[in-house]
Amino acid sequence: MKNSNFVILSFYCLILLSKPFFSLSATERCNPDDKKVLLQIKQALNNPYQLASWNPNTDCCDWYVVDCDPNNNRIVTFNLFSANISGQIPAAIGDLPYLETLVFRKLTNVTGQIPSAVANLTNLKLLRLSYTNLSGPVPTFFTQLKNLTFLDLSFNDLTGSIPVELSLLQNLDALHLDRNRLTGTIPESFGNLTGKVPDLYLSHNNLTGSVPKSLGDLNFTVLDFSQNNLIGDISFLFGRNKTIQIVNFSRNMFEFNLSNVQFPDSLTSLDLNHNMISGSLPQDLTKLNLQFLNVSYNRLCGQIPAGGKLQSFDVSSYFHNKCLCGAPLPACN
Ligand SMILES: *[C@@H]1O[C@H](CO)[C@@H](O)[C@H](O)[C@H]1NC(C)=O
Ligand SMILES: *[C@@H]1O[C@H](CO)[C@@H](O)[C@H](O)[C@H]1NC(C)=O
Ligand SMILES: *[C@@H]1O[C@H](CO)[C@@H](O)[C@H](O)[C@H]1NC(C)=O
Ligand SMILES: *[C@@H]1O[C@H](CO)[C@@H](O)[C@H](O)[C@H]1NC(C)=O
Ligand SMILES: *[C@@H]1O[C@H](CO)[C@@H](O)[C@H](O)[C@H]1NC(C)=O
Ligand SMILES: *[C@@H]1O[C@H](CO)[C@@H](O)[C@H](O)[C@H]1NC(C)=O
Ligand SMILES: *[C@@H]1O[C@H](CO)[C@@H](O)[C@H](O)[C@H]1NC(C)=O
Ligand SMILES: *[C@@H]1O[C@H](CO)[C@@H](O)[C@H](O)[C@H]1NC(C)=O
Ligand SMILES: *[C@@H]1O[C@H](CO)[C@@H](O)[C@H](O)[C@H]1NC(C)=O
Ligand SMILES: *[C@@H]1O[C@H](CO)[C@@H](O)[C@H](O)[C@H]1NC(C)=O
Ligand SMILES: *[C@@H]1O[C@H](CO)[C@@H](O)[C@H](O)[C@H]1NC(C)=O
Ligand SMILES: *[C@@H]1O[C@H](CO)[C@@H](O)[C@H](O)[C@H]1NC(C)=O
Repeated sequence: MKNSNFVILSFYCLILLSKPFFSLSATERCNPDDKKVLLQIKQALNNPYQLASWNPNTDCCDWYVVDCDPNNNRIVTFNLFSANISGQIPAAIGDLPYLETLVFRKLTNVTGQIPSAVANLTNLKLLRLSYTNLSGPVPTFFTQLKNLTFLDLSFNDLTGSIPVELSLLQNLDALHLDRNRLTGTIPESFGNLTGKVPDLYLSHNNLTGSVPKSLGDLNFTVLDFSQNNLIGDISFLFGRNKTIQIVNFSRNMFEFNLSNVQFPDSLTSLDLNHNMISGSLPQDLTKLNLQFLNVSYNRLCGQIPAGGKLQSFDVSSYFHNKCLCGAPLPACN
């Protein structure tokens, strides 16, 4: 009697003791390797408030900032943004091998270089490290991330030149390197892209030299080279057969004659302000469905063609040229 009571009691105790463990392991989806790595990352980032939900006793697939793939319960998304975080990007991030989306964005005090551990994340499709204080070069190891479709390193303190190897990323839809302190030229190799043609955002750097002619062979959709020190003739990026839609070449030292440039029908936004562009505005501009135009602060001359959208823009789209005239500017003599 005593003995059997003891057995029953022990049995209950066992159940009670094992219950939390039993129920957690039965329902927890989180992969234990991923959980261990995430807790390392949390510690490396000094336990920020944004990661307060990362409690080791709970299922990491329920944690904020990360997401699990419902098929294999591995961490596929790491999206940390708008936070007061001091420190570097933890190298442990490279030990989340299933990551497809990695975002560190708008973090107040994330410094240091982009860790080479990122090169391990060969499943990455979207990599966005922006509005942080990252410094050092644009790494060449990105070329190992063959599946990248979106690479955004904008609004950092990156220095050095744009690696020629980036042209090996054949699946890129967009490359954002704007708002850094990059120097050197736009790589000739970008004309070698044989896969997708990415939207290129290179503005607000210190890029120099002329734009490689090889880029004229590609059908871009968006080109933003604004606010650099680029020189020369870029009219080869236009042409009747091109597919470009949005162009921003403003605030450089581009120098060419606009008179005979042919613009494709696809063009909707053209910002050429603050360059040394001469000649006149081609008549064919009236045939375009332009939503934005700014050719101010150049060396243009002659009558603004009448028609199309050209009179819908205000004076500031045209002012500060050599001798442009006609509506919306004062009439020509
Ligand atoms: C970040 O910290 C600063 C001062 O330490 C504070 O003023 C600011 O509100 C904080 N921002 C966020 C998003 O917590
Ligand atoms: C930024 O982080 C460094 C350490 O990484 C720290 O010394 C510094 O006080 C932090 N600055 C701010 C404004 O939080
Ligand atoms: C990359 O992954 C391998 C194997 O998982 C690991 O041994 C190595 O330390 C990782 N490298 C970096 C830089 O994280
Ligand atoms: C790239 O993506 C394809 C298809 O989405 C996948 O089969 C392949 O394993 C991925 N490659 C790498 C290196 O992750
Ligand atoms: C980070 O960058 C921002 C914007 O460029 C700057 O205002 C801030 O002082 C930088 N912080 C550090 C710690 O360098
Ligand atoms: C780009 O292509 C040219 C030939 O078209 C070749 O000479 C050059 O090595 C290539 N560059 C890169 C970086 O692939
Ligand atoms: C750009 O480079 C020039 C000369 O190399 C330098 O004088 C200038 O300060 C740089 N500008 C920026 C914004 O870094
Ligand atoms: C660019 O687009 C035009 C029009 O769609 C097409 O005729 C041409 O073959 C394309 N060129 C390249 C290099 O893809
Ligand atoms: C073009 O770039 C300049 C400088 O980066 C920016 O101020 C301007 O708003 C851009 N134009 C358009 C139409 O986005
Ligand atoms: C544009 O395309 C047409 C036919 O699609 C072709 O005849 C013409 O040569 C092309 N023009 C240029 C400048 O590539
Ligand atoms: C621009 O080209 C047109 C047409 O070829 C020519 O009449 C004009 O003189 C040129 N303007 C300048 C400033 O070179
Ligand atoms: C065109 O650019 C000039 C110079 O940056 C600027 O002052 C003006 O407001 C711009 N106009 C429009 C319509 O964007």
